[in-house]
Amino acid sequence: MKTIALGSDHAGFSLKEFISSYLKENGYEIVDYGAFSEESVDYPYFARKVANAVAEHSADCGILFCGTGIGVSIAANKVKGIRAALVYNSETAALAKQHNDANIICLGARFIAPYYAQKIVESYLTATFEGGKHQKRLDKIEKDDE
Ligand code: RB5
Repeated sequence: MKTIALGSDHAGFSLKEFISSYLKENGYEIVDYGAFSEESVDYPYFARKVANAVAEHSADCGILFCGTGIGVSIAANKVKGIRAALVYNSETAALAKQHNDANIICLGARFIAPYYAQKIVESYLTATFEGGKHQKRLDKIEKDDE
């Protein structure tokens, strides 16, 4: 069974709850790192929790939520081994996995309706990394290479 780490700030809280229920209903194991209410909080803390869980392999992948998805993606990508992708539709969600082997996706809760967020998550979770030339490019990111 796939274990998925979830995290949000206050702006992403409600969408996180919605996606959490959807994933549990579909047999995924969820580790929820908060936030646990709409009280204002700072997103770097939650992004780092999820990023560390994925980097340490206590979760297979992560999904982060904030108002735009931008803040959590910037914060998560500071953690070594994390490839956090800001995605905004089903196509970019699938490509984030197929081409970038994204181990976290980031969603902007103020811009994506719950129904579409569900489709985006489904698209990411069912996609497969294509390897080959894409792996070569990921290696170049790791090596800080051209
Ligand atoms: C919170 O107001 C908002 O700034 C935050 O959720 C996020 O969008 C930051 O990137």
